[in-house]
This record gives sequence, structure tokens and C-alpha cells, in this order.
Amino acid sequence: MSISKSAENLIGKAQDGKDLNRKEIIQLLSLPAKYSPELFAAADKVRKEKVGDEIFLRGIIEFSNHCERNCLYCGLRKGNASLSRYRMSEDEIIATAEQIKNTGVPTVVLQSGEDSFYSQDIICRLIERIRKETDLIITLSIGERALNDYNAFQRAGANRYLLKHETASLDLYRYLRPGCEWENRMQCLRRLKELGFETGTGNMVGLPGQTPEILADDLLVMKYLDADMLGIGPFIAHPDTPLAGIGHDDLELTLRVLALARLITRNTNIPATTALATLQPKGRLQALQAGANVVMPDFTPENYKTRYDIYPGRKDVGSAVAIISKLEKDFQSIGRTLQYSVGSRPGK
Ligand code: 5AD
Ligand code: SF4
Repeated sequence: MSISKSAENLIGKAQDGKDLNRKEIIQLLSLPAKYSPELFAAADKVRKEKVGDEIFLRGIIEFSNHCERNCLYCGLRKGNASLSRYRMSEDEIIATAEQIKNTGVPTVVLQSGEDSFYSQDIICRLIERIRKETDLIITLSIGERALNDYNAFQRAGANRYLLKHETASLDLYRYLRPGCEWENRMQCLRRLKELGFETGTGNMVGLPGQTPEILADDLLVMKYLDADMLGIGPFIAHPDTPLAGIGHDDLELTLRVLALARLITRNTNIPATTALATLQPKGRLQALQAGANVVMPDFTPENYKTRYDIYPGRKDVGSAVAIISKLEKDFQSIGRTLQYSVGSRPGK
């Protein structure tokens, strides 16, 4: 069979929701660039059919940029002495949550580095206050914790948890995240699922040493975990990390992985990540036309936001309200509407 015939057959098979094996996923990842529009269109159709035309909003608060880990790729790493660190007070966090509520955005994502300053009790109290004072749906994105912390967070009223697996290669994981074990992360993810959290995972695309085989395994991990939300973003090299200058900044490959994630996992919630918009102003809209259905505007107060310096050039700096009104116009131009509702994974 010619390449084009077999490529079309494979894209059709993916669109129909038939299981793809590892070899087929690798083939789809490795197809020449001219097949991208067809792959993106297939993912866009499945997105429309499974999660509809609405774009769901989640408001992010980056409440601490302290981190005890030393991930080679990340600007928040402990070893980055040039970063000015902050922790938002409980009242500042609540005030920001209220702002999210007043904008009409129904869910808040509480995000930080791995910062043990925030004990189980502190996080639980925050969750309880946000539930009581704003009624927002709460997503936590605060890294690996003791398994019984997750239990307590859930009892306190948290509903969702984001913990990207980052890469499915055990070797790459160990190299990029010194002192961390991949199996531990999987254990956390499985526990979160068992507890009934809507659970998010995901990866970075364009990491040094990453191959199509590894990216195929990333996609299989997303499916195997039955993740409800998927964060897929390009790796962007940070100058104050050991990976300075190494980035591939691969927008096209990131969109391809995102499209395949939609084709393989069907009804998940997939954000058009800020990292995509950072690489290319059009990146966000392209992602929303290649399988994505969520946008996460950043409500972190300005004096802190610029210090949440995971990777350079983050595009969302500026008021979240202004960003949302710009998004509204952009989305209309592609026939999509912003949705101010909770937007759980359908069937959950
Ligand atoms: N480029 C892109 N994404 C990054 N992250 C961390 N460092 C980078 C980088 N240099 C992402 C990781 C992590 C989250 C905190 O940000 O996926 O989960
Ligand atoms: Fe810390 Fe997460 Fe950055 Fe690693 S990726 S250094 S755990 S904030």
C-alpha cells in the first residue's frame, strides 16, 4: 500500500475510535508534515462530537513559586537562585478566588511548586474556605504528596487534581527529575483516580532525548490511566536551568500529540496550554482547532505572576479579565463560544 493510502486509513481508523497500537501511533506521529491538516481535522471532528463546541474556562492562581524539587527543565527548580520567591497569604488567595468567581469563571486551579510549607491542614483550610466563600469547583495542582493528603483534600472539598506524568520514559524521567521516581508518580495518579478526583495528567513535547516511541508511550499512559484531563505543552528552554538553550520549541509536533490525545482518549478535557500560546500567538487557536476544548486564564496578581517563571516569555501576563474578553472575540472567529459552566468530563 502507498504511504498516502495507509496514512489515510490510519487517520480514519483513529477518527472512528478504533484502538491504535503503539506502532500505529508512532506511524501517525512520524507522518510527513503535509498530513497534519488531515490529522487536526479528524481530532477537531471527534472534539465536536464528544465534548461539543464550547470552550470551558478554568481560573488559575499560582499561589507559591517555592519548590523543593530540582527538575532540570523548570525555572522554579530549587537550584535556581536568581528567582525571587513568594508565597501568597491565605487572604490573598481567597480574594483572588473571589475575583475568579466575580468574572463568572466557575472553577479555580490552585497551582504551586512542591512546597511543604503548605501542610495538609493549611491546604484543607484553604479548600474549605474557598468552597464556603465562593462555591468554586476546586482543582489542585501542587505535585506529589503523601497518599493520605489526597484523601484529606478530597474530604475537604477538592474535586480535581492535575499531576502531569511529564514523560513516559523512565530513563528520561530519572534524568530530568533528580531524586524522583516515575512509579511513585503513577501511584499518586492511581490513588487520585481511585478517590474519585477528576484527574489530569500530561507531558511536555520536545524534551531533549525524546523520540516518537516515547511520545507514543505518553499517549498510551494517558489512555491507560483513564485520565479525565490532559495537559500537553511544548518544552521551552529556560535560561536559568541546566537545559538552557536546548529547546526545540516544536509547535507542530505538540499540536500533533494533542490531536492524537483527542483521537485516542475521545471525551477528555484538553486545554490549549499557555506554553503553546507562548511559542506562537496563533498557537492557542490552532490547538482549539486540533482537539483542545479548555482555556485556563491566569488570575495570579501581577506582582507574583511574573515571578511564576516556569519557562521564559509566558504570554498570559496581563489582566485575566482583559484576556478573557480578547479570547471571546478570537473564539467567535472560529465558530466557538466561551462557556461559563463547570465543564466536567462528559459521563463523569
Ligand atoms: N517548558 C514547558 N513546560 C514546562 N514545565 C516546567 N518547565 C517547563 C518548561 N521549561 C511544565 C511541566 C510542569 C509544569 C509545572 O510546567 O509540565 O508540570
Ligand atoms: Fe518544581 Fe514542578 Fe518545576 Fe519540578 S516541574 S521544579 S516539581 S514546579
